[in-house]
Amino acid sequence: MQRFRRLRRDERIRSMMRETRLHPKDFIYPMFVMEGENIKNPVDSMPGVYQYSIDRLDEILERVRKADIGGIMLFGIPAHKDERGSQAYAKDGVTQRAVSYIKKNYPEIYIVVDVCLCEYTSHGHCGMVCGDEILNDETLPLLAKMAVSLAEAGADMVAPSDMMDGRVEAIRDALDLAGFSQTPIMAYSAKFASAYYGPFRDAAHSAPGFGDRKSYQMDFANGQEALREIAEDIEEGADIVMVKPGLAYLDVLKEAAMEFEMPFAVYNVSGEYSMVKAAAAKGWIDEKRIVTENLTAMKRAGAKIIITYHALDAAEWLER
Ligand code: PBG
Ligand code: ZN
Repeated sequence: MQRFRRLRRDERIRSMMRETRLHPKDFIYPMFVMEGENIKNPVDSMPGVYQYSIDRLDEILERVRKADIGGIMLFGIPAHKDERGSQAYAKDGVTQRAVSYIKKNYPEIYIVVDVCLCEYTSHGHCGMVCGDEILNDETLPLLAKMAVSLAEAGADMVAPSDMMDGRVEAIRDALDLAGFSQTPIMAYSAKFASAYYGPFRDAAHSAPGFGDRKSYQMDFANGQEALREIAEDIEEGADIVMVKPGLAYLDVLKEAAMEFEMPFAVYNVSGEYSMVKAAAAKGWIDEKRIVTENLTAMKRAGAKIIITYHALDAAEWLER
């Protein structure tokens, strides 16, 4: 008989035996920047998460700086939306201005920006629309243009989340051509059509106006297809590949991380956050312990980077 319990007798030995340890640098904190002035809007479905106008960002950026996490991931909410999502690649778009502001005033913060059209289009889809069809190839140049304009504004990394085929290659080519060969791409490679994005769509005002995203995001039943998506994004030049959502997809993350020698990211999405916050508010679970357990599980499954709305709290909880 093996006496496994010998190494579990007290916290000193358990701590020594621990295989996975979280570090604040593992975390990327998603943030919502809104057009306008003096705005700090709470997102009802995501307690603790706010939409900020650029002039109110300092408060949260100070906290980001102190938490000393890996970086932030920006989502812009423009005042004006149109068919082609033109504010996504406008030089003076809210996201571009937010990036410049942060770059200038907080140069130590690593800025990742989500590249997708859904927050910027009047129809709320991630690509160009014709009738009820979401167009693939017509969308690619717009995504590429968006990525370049964000790099010009000072983004350190771009993260395409649209799930159009071929977008990593299109973005890579455009960045290289514009002189940004050193800007990495973190691809949302295995992104599933998920009910877990519900609260995010309130936060980012990005719910599709008709239909759903099932013709471009993956069917959640498919694990093998996820490996093919990831292989393709690596082939097209992704520097980091992502599995999204997190908790219900750790099997996919684990398998992919074993198969590909690449840095993996996982997105601990809005619905996962909201479920924890709701149950914690009821006193039904211990928030700090549950969050630590969830984030540790994601790292154990193979994630190098964890994108999470808990980033600042978790970084503050970790003893350093
Ligand atoms: C935009 C995007 C979404 C998320 C990240 N980027 C929403 C969607 O695809 O509908 C989800 C993030 C979350 O739920 O926290 N394409
Ligand atoms: Zn989108």
